[in-house]
Amino acid sequence: TPERGRIEFSGVTFGFPGAETPVVKDASFVVEPGKTTAIIGSTGAGKTVLLNLMLRLYDPQQGTITIDGAPVSQLTREQLADAIGLVPQRPYLFAGTIASNLRFGRSGATEEELWEALRVAQGEDFVKAKELGLDEPVSQGGTSVSGGQRQRLSIARLLVARPKVYLFDDSFSALDVATDARLRAALPEATQGATTIIVAQRVSTITEADQILVIEAGEIVGRGTHDELLASSDVYQEIVRS
Ligand code: GTP
Ligand code: MG
Repeated sequence: TPERGRIEFSGVTFGFPGAETPVVKDASFVVEPGKTTAIIGSTGAGKTVLLNLMLRLYDPQQGTITIDGAPVSQLTREQLADAIGLVPQRPYLFAGTIASNLRFGRSGATEEELWEALRVAQGEDFVKAKELGLDEPVSQGGTSVSGGQRQRLSIARLLVARPKVYLFDDSFSALDVATDARLRAALPEATQGATTIIVAQRVSTITEADQILVIEAGEIVGRGTHDELLASSDVYQEIVRS
């Protein structure tokens, strides 16, 4: 249905308890179902907080956030977890195997599904190179794999989970440009046209996005496609030049 995975922010303001100024200020936007929305902005702008608000890690002081028309504040944690999945900015692995880490949240996934997710996440080669493959042990925190590998395993984990809405918090910036491009080219088919939100640092990661939100100090200061923003947003032009 066309309403699968639509997110709407209406006048959302959020500040951390005790802080003087809010970190998200009167944010209103729509994430269209089945489309890719990118969020870009400098460090500390509020990108991660925006994603965390969708996941209801915090509740806004003002405004509402809805998924497919339902306020997230009225969904159970389970309903929310089924609807939205996040690849966090600092991905975590737990003590177990690569397979058990990938199956987190969907224990019934087959080995074939795990390999398919790894293929899309550009993690197939390094897992194949492990002596035990999917059964290779992973230490707590994932210190036995590199940061980039941890990130790709975390992306594969979300692909295995199959939420309605995929959130990627800065998940591609540790990848080289070619790997980043291959991964994003493979994503739409793997997510079966689900709603995707990508927080990015590199403009090259998001030029194809259906909508880009430019965030500065908790405010949306620009929105549109890459070409529209090039023509309309000084902040975006600055990001492109940097
Ligand atoms: P980068 O990930 O560095 O690109 O930044 P970001 O855009 O994701 O910023 P983020 O959303 O993490 O932070 C927005 C603002 O909220 C910043 O001023 C942070 O210092 C502040 N902030 C983030 N997390 C916390 C928290 O747990 N407590 C408090 N008090 N402030 C926080
Ligand atoms: Mg962040």
